Amino acid sequence: METDHRPTDSPTPDAMPGRLARLLADYVPLWHRLMRLPGQLFAISPFDGDSRPSRVRLFQPGSGRPTLPFPHPWNYDQPIRILESYFWGAESETGPGRHNRYLDVPGCAPILVTRDPAMIRAIAAETGDRDGQFDRDTLPSTGIARATGPDTLLFANGPLWRRQRKLAASPFGKTTLFQPEMFHEFAATFRGTIVRRLGVLREHLQSSGKSSVRVPLEPEIKAVMLEMLANNFFSAELSYEQVRNRYVPALERVIDHIVSDTVTNKLGLPISWLPSFTRRIAQTKADYACFDELTTLVLAPRKEGKGLWRQFKSDAPDAALRSNLKVFLAGALEATTSFASWALAHLARNQAAQEKVYQEVKDVDDYNPDNLDAARYLGQVLDETLRLTPSLYFLPRRATADTWVETADGRKMFIPRGTHILLDVWHANRHEDHWGAAVTGYPASEFVPERWTNLAEQGRGSKEILHFGFGHGPRVCPGKHLGQLEVGLVVGAVVKMFRFQAVHQGNPAKAGVSTKPQDGTLVELQLRQNSLR
Ligand code: HEM
Repeated sequence: METDHRPTDSPTPDAMPGRLARLLADYVPLWHRLMRLPGQLFAISPFDGDSRPSRVRLFQPGSGRPTLPFPHPWNYDQPIRILESYFWGAESETGPGRHNRYLDVPGCAPILVTRDPAMIRAIAAETGDRDGQFDRDTLPSTGIARATGPDTLLFANGPLWRRQRKLAASPFGKTTLFQPEMFHEFAATFRGTIVRRLGVLREHLQSSGKSSVRVPLEPEIKAVMLEMLANNFFSAELSYEQVRNRYVPALERVIDHIVSDTVTNKLGLPISWLPSFTRRIAQTKADYACFDELTTLVLAPRKEGKGLWRQFKSDAPDAALRSNLKVFLAGALEATTSFASWALAHLARNQAAQEKVYQEVKDVDDYNPDNLDAARYLGQVLDETLRLTPSLYFLPRRATADTWVETADGRKMFIPRGTHILLDVWHANRHEDHWGAAVTGYPASEFVPERWTNLAEQGRGSKEILHFGFGHGPRVCPGKHLGQLEVGLVVGAVVKMFRFQAVHQGNPAKAGVSTKPQDGTLVELQLRQNSLR
């Protein structure tokens, strides 16, 4: 990657609230904007190179395009359709840039959307704190920053991000988590939690006197995920009732509020500044207070060095950790619930795959790293889940300098400074060109774990052909190993205890901070013989 220059040091947004901080952090000098204006008015592309993107119009009446190519109060709840609108009519295009599109509205910074895996990889790999590297774009996460505080690993860029990243490395790293003693402690408590919670479902089924019961699995998964994170990982002592009835519903509402707040709160006012005029505002404030209370509870075991806190080497005061803890709690709950819900939703529509997973896990009682590694088909189910239905459906980036990016196969694109970039993982992962029958042996739009066997036989593993389910490059998910462990245990345990069938055959997505099955993973649940070990 070559860069022309790095912008003058912009103030970090940590100290300032809301919109002002964002405007300053995203500052591109006025002269720069004015210079670009004539080109924008005459629709001259600011991009260059053989992979340069083609232009998307702001309005395209009569085209049948699903929605406008930017979020507004009437379409923000359909973010996947907004991304789709960038590729409306793009199938007829040819050439190396056919999966790249841009929008350039006069007076605003350009927006680049790419569903080209090689370009996604190149941009993700060049994201970081070095001069001229891409930043994570803070624009789509302003609501998250208002809910958690902006000084977090997720929201920060530059040196502040780098410092936080180093601190997170030890407690979340694979070597820590998979160190036998630590692994056993977590795996045993995680599994204990799962078995207890699934036991409740099992009793519900038995007491109903019926052979099967219809339930949405998502609320159960959410409660298990929060319990594992808060109690088993952070060593808090929350009761199941507190988790299920108090913290999960409050966090769900906080996450919904984050999504609408990002689009509709143009002034960037924190919720605490608003008077409780309506019942909705009062409820939202109560939910934020509840989120604060949960954060206090997971911080409490730090002084005794319990659980994860044993690995956390920092003398930062508790108050300095609160924002990041909130990101971990809300982000991890959202992402692990999404991942596990999708995996179960796919298995509920694919009985043969469910049976294959069952054969693999039915005799596994000791969840050590070797046994988990040996569950190869379950691993393929999880990879295929993140490919077809990634939890985080796009990765936001921002060009901090005029930049040339080059893909591994030698294609190049010039991206002007200030460009908002959406790495559209959702559409990249389901495009026939990248994941279709010619490449993997099966249509890209179908859930087929066996495609990973085909790829492995071609010598192309998940390291070469990327689904970006945990991101890629320096900002790859630090919770990846923890998340994989939690989701693998939950999915394995559900399959081991129950046989389940989707109520609806279609499997559409709803999307907010993450994606999830629209029907809440509604299934007919049947108890397996010999379950609950
Ligand atoms: C298992 C489900 C999970 C999935 C699918 C997932 C996915 C992702 C993805 C795709 C990114 C990259 C975002 C980007 O490049 O812009 C990311 C980043 C991140 N994830 Fe996860 N994640 C999961 C679990 C977790 C857990 C369990 C935690 C923490 C306890 C966590 C904390 C984070 C943080 C803090 C970042 C930002 C890292 C940075 O910017 O340096 N995630 N996650």
